[in-house]
Amino acid sequence: FEGMTVVELSKRTGKSISDLQDIMVNVGEKVCSEFDSLSIDIAELVAMEVGVNVKRLHSNEGSEILPRPPVVTVMGHVDHGKTSLLDALRQTSLAAKEAGGITQHLGAFVVSMQSGASITFLDTPGHAAFSAMRARGAAVTDIVVLVVAADDGVMPQTLEALAHAKAANVPIVVAINKCDKPGANPERVKVQLASEGLALEEMGGDIQAVEVSATKKTGLDILEEALLLQAEMMELKARVDGPAQAYVVEARLDKGRGPLATAIVKAGTLICGRYVVVGAEWGRIRAIRDTIGKLTEKAKPAMPVEIEGLKGLPMAGDDIVVVESEERARMLSAGRKKKLDKDRLLKIGEERMELASPSE
Ligand code: GTP
Ligand code: MG
Repeated sequence: FEGMTVVELSKRTGKSISDLQDIMVNVGEKVCSEFDSLSIDIAELVAMEVGVNVKRLHSNEGSEILPRPPVVTVMGHVDHGKTSLLDALRQTSLAAKEAGGITQHLGAFVVSMQSGASITFLDTPGHAAFSAMRARGAAVTDIVVLVVAADDGVMPQTLEALAHAKAANVPIVVAINKCDKPGANPERVKVQLASEGLALEEMGGDIQAVEVSATKKTGLDILEEALLLQAEMMELKARVDGPAQAYVVEARLDKGRGPLATAIVKAGTLICGRYVVVGAEWGRIRAIRDTIGKLTEKAKPAMPVEIEGLKGLPMAGDDIVVVESEERARMLSAGRKKKLDKDRLLKIGEERMELASPSE
């Protein structure tokens, strides 16, 4: 989308050049020649006005592309130990050790290892949030850890998680948890998973399964190695310089600090002080904090941070884009809000129609 001209936009949207120029006047943009390239913000605004969905792509041309840590989400059946496992993993991090084990609860954390490698874990958002994020195209998760309790085995929500991961096309690493329990039967879990179509490594497939105990803290290093191996195969890379492209993982309202969003940078660098549009909200980033609550000026790819300074509360899965001015931010936010309202009305309209049509 970057650098598109009015002529190209006209081709893509099927609207005439003069129609598009009218819209540009309405959104307060000076009409340029149809061969001048539009800024990405204006292109998005105009496209929204004519009802075309846009996806922002930042060109990586000329920028440095570097390996980045994997972003991992833990999923699984209720009570199978997702939270316990995350807590145990959190404690394996050097940062957690340095901070004396006191980590602030952010909705995401980074495990930094002796080897210098690191893994970003998202606190398990629940399947609904995961689906919502996927529906909005927020591809933040690189790998899903599927937690299955060794005593309980595969359960309905195990299958649900499996379906979500498959639908999102995200590779799975299985963590067979509670292996310390007397009734634990990891082999049975493997057979169950295999019968669900998971091609486990030891059965000739490529899905790793690791036996762990969150309580006894066993197998955690092996799980981390498995995740790094999986990540290595995926060759995860990101552009480091240039404007940030980021996603909201969770958001909450703090009495004193206002709306706070936990964000993960996908590409580029998020910098304090910039104007951003977050979903349909906007703001100027007043503070960026890392996962242990330390203030920082910048956030790089796969780094979860908490940002402060938004005017409203965004939603999980919302995208964060950097814009050049407050005016742009307000305009884009207003445009997106308008579109959201329109979509909502359309949806209500459709539901009414369904209600109105006589059922047979
Ligand atoms: P929900 O968030 O409710 O879906 O549960 P969860 O998957 O986060 O499970 P949670 O970590 O809360 O653990 C559920 C119960 O299992 C708790 O009582 C834990 O103490 C216990 N538990 C978790 N991991 C282990 C383990 O490795 N071994 C044993 N023996 N118990 C465990
Ligand atoms: Mg839990």
